[in-house]
Amino acid sequence: MSHVVPVAELSQQVGQEVTVRGWLYNKRSSKNVHFLELRDGTGIVQTVVFKGNVTPELFQLAEGLGQESSIEATGLVKEHGKLKGTYELDAKDVRVIAHVARQYPISPKEHGTDFLMDNRHLWLRSKRQHAILRIRHTIIKAVRDFFDGRGFTLVDAPIFTPNACEGTSTLFETDYHGEPAYLTQSGQLYMEAAAAAVGKAYCFGPTFRAEKSKTRRHLAEFWMVEPEVAFLDLEGDMKLGEDFITYIVERVLETRAEELKICERDTTFLEKVKTPFPRITYHEAIKILQENGHPEAKVGDDFGGDEETVISNKFDRPLIVHRYPSDIKAFYFKRDPGNEALALNMDILAPEGYGEIIGGGQREDSLERLEAAIGHHKLPMEAFEWYLDLRRYGSFPHAGFGLGIERTVSWICGLPHVRETIPFPRMLNRLAP
Ligand code: 4AD
Ligand code: MG
Repeated sequence: MSHVVPVAELSQQVGQEVTVRGWLYNKRSSKNVHFLELRDGTGIVQTVVFKGNVTPELFQLAEGLGQESSIEATGLVKEHGKLKGTYELDAKDVRVIAHVARQYPISPKEHGTDFLMDNRHLWLRSKRQHAILRIRHTIIKAVRDFFDGRGFTLVDAPIFTPNACEGTSTLFETDYHGEPAYLTQSGQLYMEAAAAAVGKAYCFGPTFRAEKSKTRRHLAEFWMVEPEVAFLDLEGDMKLGEDFITYIVERVLETRAEELKICERDTTFLEKVKTPFPRITYHEAIKILQENGHPEAKVGDDFGGDEETVISNKFDRPLIVHRYPSDIKAFYFKRDPGNEALALNMDILAPEGYGEIIGGGQREDSLERLEAAIGHHKLPMEAFEWYLDLRRYGSFPHAGFGLGIERTVSWICGLPHVRETIPFPRMLNRLAP
């Protein structure tokens, strides 16, 4: 057997005899030739099996191969006669590793979403899902590179937690040796502790929300990256957020053009993602709603997906909305010294109707005010004693945010629903496969 080469590297092997290992993606046959499309995870290569070049047994074998059979093919690498930049394998030998005799469930014909979701473990092999996986990978790599390149330290937050960060209505409760524990909704509180240790911290991990809503933006389990920075204010936080998003989008445009094309993504909007992002206050956002088909909108309302779509559609790039009423925001936000009714928070909304991808802001650094806020939100004070210590021992202004990876993937790939952005989605009615 000649040496095994990934399909993506075949262009460097023209005229060489190589072996490719993978799965049979598609097959076309005529009397004297079989065209086997082999998929190896790095690409797809057409393997040409001419009757005259192989034994009659082998030719017959190729005839009966089922889709997704695993195969090893050896042959000469050639540039395609008509398609420049496309390479094929002129097969000399084909070895079947595992023959698939049954009908592969996912055919090129249209399937319903439920069927595809039930077969998610197989659906991942399709071209589009593969492209999304690669873009997700690139986004996560860009996330890490961005913070690592700016002096942040990755600090992992726990998954089992004794207290709620984002309100008690979306908690997943588990039994922790006889005590109730919650799956983390956010690593933020721990990153605040970490920021006092390392200055600039970030965590990246799975987070959980028992979301009762079935929307195209909500998952029960999603991945969030959460930076937290000592001595940063809301203004600095917004700047960090816009630099971060711009960096991620640039990286994907630079390195994943092929995959974006497979997703049929119109990249003109992505190319417009440049700093500074427009900034509006919550009150200005309410006004936009009132003037655009939501006359009922009033100060004090929280924005759902529909409202975010209306607001963000007014802009051609991501939009920062800041200073929401404190009453509709989490307990930990610092209040605006200029108007105590407002939180020093911000959301970044993606354009094209995608809505909130980042939520964050400046944290309350006064012990007394934080105690009052915990009381006001009727949260159990004992569970937050450790968090209050951060205000007892060298309190400091600080800010941070959380970016949801799946919503970011959804927007960058131009997908209609977050369910395709994570390999194995967990949603209201889905725990399998
Ligand atoms: O706005 P959220 O709830 O903010 C926090 O959790 C803060 N503690 C983060 C921080 O400041 N460190 O969530 C942050 C982001 C949202 O903007 C969204 O992108 C994503 O997390 N997100 C979800 N993504 C998918 N499914 C859900 N159910 C999500 N809930 C939030
Ligand atoms: Mg939010």
